[in-house]
Amino acid sequence: MSANAKSTVTVLGLGAMGSAIAERLRRTGHTTTVWNRTAAKTRPHVEAGSAAAPTVADAVRASDLVLVVLLDHASVREHLDPVAAELRGRTVVNLVTTTPNQARETAAWAAEEGIAYVDGAIMATPDMIGGPGSRLLYSGDEAAYTSARSALETLGTADFEGADAGLASLKDMALLSALDLMFSGYVQAIAMMRTVGVPAVETAREVQAWLEPMLSYGPGLAAIIDGGTYDTGGQSVDFSRAGQASLITASREQGISAALLEPHKKLLDELAATGRGDSDWLRIVDLLTISK
Ligand SMILES: NC(=O)c1ccc[n+]([C@@H]2O[C@H](COP(=O)([O-])OP(=O)(O)OC[C@H]3O[C@@H](n4cnc5c(N)ncnc54)[C@H](OP(=O)(O)O)[C@@H]3O)[C@@H](O)[C@H]2O)c1
Repeated sequence: MSANAKSTVTVLGLGAMGSAIAERLRRTGHTTTVWNRTAAKTRPHVEAGSAAAPTVADAVRASDLVLVVLLDHASVREHLDPVAAELRGRTVVNLVTTTPNQARETAAWAAEEGIAYVDGAIMATPDMIGGPGSRLLYSGDEAAYTSARSALETLGTADFEGADAGLASLKDMALLSALDLMFSGYVQAIAMMRTVGVPAVETAREVQAWLEPMLSYGPGLAAIIDGGTYDTGGQSVDFSRAGQASLITASREQGISAALLEPHKKLLDELAATGRGDSDWLRIVDLLTISK
């Protein structure tokens, strides 16, 4: 029987995210069984209509579809490995944040054990689950994804990235990298403006107003990278180096470290030192590739 046909779902892990997922599944009419290491956290879920399982094995046996929302890769393997026999023939959707290779490792283990495995990445916070801005990425066993899809779609927009189980995680890590670097930029701007008494919240508003229109340039910059010639006459390495040097100097003059800015300048300097000062500055993308 497919996971959809049975419409019962087990949720392993009732932290902030697992709880939001279990609640959403209940609200959308799914029969749910929950398990959590700290059993007391199952109580509100039982009061709201879920069944609580005393062990992971019991929880797994209750449903054809098992959603894993534990903390990290280690906790996933700690709790799934011992119940491989119970998981055989069932679908596991692992929503835990892991690296792509950790996802591939778990997928390889699942394949050996006869478990249908889908790796997932949640591009949302718990309060967004089931709402319009919630998006989840999936990769791995497509047939298993298809069978679980109607339950998964209750959590947010569901996008299947491909058969390589690491793909959802890779995109998750890439998008989170962009987010982290962007918010590091907020912190740098805030630190600089605090030196003249401007509150962080005020600078954050200024940064947002500045970045919102700037973001629309992203696809054009990406097209230069896809073109691969770096001779479009756009902003050059040398031009960018001068700009970056000013940012670094201005930070230091205000008594603020330039530690967040320096890595970018270092890459530009490397291009200039190897005769590529006239290239589009986006050529730094080539320096990010580390040969294995
Ligand atoms: N929160 C978000 O905004 C968000 C967004 C995207 C993705 N995620 C991902 O979703 C996953 C869960 O996040 P969360 O926000 O729910 O975290 P959380 O609130 O800290 O909850 C962690 C959960 O993992 C369990 N856990 C931790 N270590 C364990 C172990 N060794 N064995 C068994 N259970 C263990 C905890 O159980 P106890 O209750 O017993 O401690 C709890 O159920 C993470 O991989 C996170 O990266 C979260």
